[in-house]
Amino acid sequence: MSAEPVNVRDYERLAEERLDPGAFGYFAGGAGDEYTVRENLAAFERWHLRPRVLADVGSVTTTTTVLGKDVSMPVLVAPTALQRLAHADGDAATARAAAAAGTVFCLSTVASASPAEISEAAPGGRHWFQLYWSRDRGFTEGLLARVVDAGFDALVLTVDFPAAGRRERDIRTAFRLPADLPLPNVSKHLGTGDFHAALGEIVDPRLTWRDLEWLRSVCELPLLLKGILTSEDALLAVEHGAAGIVVSNHGGRQLDGVQASLDALPEVVEAVGGRAEILIDGGVRRGTDVVKALALGARAVLVGRPVLWGLAVAGEDGVRRVLELLGTEVALALQLLGCASPAGVGRSHVGPAG
Ligand code: FNR
Ligand code: LAC
Repeated sequence: MSAEPVNVRDYERLAEERLDPGAFGYFAGGAGDEYTVRENLAAFERWHLRPRVLADVGSVTTTTTVLGKDVSMPVLVAPTALQRLAHADGDAATARAAAAAGTVFCLSTVASASPAEISEAAPGGRHWFQLYWSRDRGFTEGLLARVVDAGFDALVLTVDFPAAGRRERDIRTAFRLPADLPLPNVSKHLGTGDFHAALGEIVDPRLTWRDLEWLRSVCELPLLLKGILTSEDALLAVEHGAAGIVVSNHGGRQLDGVQASLDALPEVVEAVGGRAEILIDGGVRRGTDVVKALALGARAVLVGRPVLWGLAVAGEDGVRRVLELLGTEVALALQLLGCASPAGVGRSHVGPAG
C-alpha cells in the first residue's frame, strides 16, 4: 500500500504525527465541547447530492469568479494564524501554493509575514487581508495602508472575535507562543504568556456597525465580513456596503453551540438576495462538500485546517497537493453531478438526507 496521502483526512493524520501536541491542538481544536467543530463536518452529511444525467459533461471546468475576478476553482485559502508553527516556511509557502493553484490566499493579521512579504513571495497571486481591528486606530490605518501598497485586492474583516473562544485543548497543553515567532501585523508583541488573553488584546471588542464607515473611509478595497451566521446580520452587512459575506463560525473556535456554517448558509443567501457575494467556510474537506455549498447558494468556500495539514506535512508542496486534491475532487463531483462548471450548480442539486 502506498503511504502517499490520497485525501485531506490522510493529511490530517500525517500532520498529527508530525506536529507537537501543542501546535496540533491549536490547529485542530475548537471552543468548549467542540460541538460546533463536529457540526461543521456533520452538516455536509445532512444533504444528499441529486445528480442529473445525459447533461454533456465532456468538458468540465472548475473556474469561477469571486468578487468579479477569476479563480481556478471555488476553493480559497482561509486566513489562519501562526502558520510557522506548521512549517518553517509558513505563510509565504501557503501563498505560493495558492498562487500556483490559481486561487486566493487570505493573509491573517496574526501571520508571521507582512503583506509586502507575501506579495514578494507570490508575485502573481491574488491576496486578501484578514483584519483584526485594534483598539489603536492609527495602527490599524497604517496596517491597511501597507495592505493596499502590497497590492492586496480585498479586505476581510473578522466580526466573530470580540474575544478569543475558550479552547480547552490549548489550556491542557499549556499552549504558548514561541518567543521567536515574528508577528509583524500586530501592534504589540503578543508575548509568550496566555495566548488567548493576548489574542483578545489585539481586537477592539467595542466595535459596532457604525465603525464600518470609518473603515471604508480609510480603505477602499472591497470589504468582506467574515463570521456572519444570521439573516439579521447579513442584511446589516449589505446595508453597510459589504461586497461579500463569509458565513463562518471560525471553524468552531469561537462561540461553541452555534450551528454549522452550512446550516446558516440558506438563510443568509435568502436575506442577501444577490446583493453581495456569499462565501462559506467550516468543515469543507471534500470536493462534494464544495458542490453542496455551491448548491445552497455559496459563490465559493474557504478552507482553513486542510491547508494547515498540507503545510505541516510538506510545506509549499503539501499545500499545493491539498489544493490540487480538492480541485480534482470538485471537477469530478461537477462532472458526476451533470454540471459543466460551478455556475451550473443549483438548489435542485441537493436534497435533505434521510
Ligand atoms: C483560524 N481562523 C482564523 N480566522 C481569522 O479570521 N483570522 C485568523 O487569524 C484565524 N486563525 C485561525 C487559526 C487556526 C489554527 C484555525 C483552524 C482557524 C478561522 C479560519 O479562517 C476559518 O474560519 C476556519 O478555519 C474554517 O474552518 P475549517 O476549514 O478549518 O474547518
Ligand atoms: C484563532 C485566531 C487567531 O482562531 O483567529 O486562533
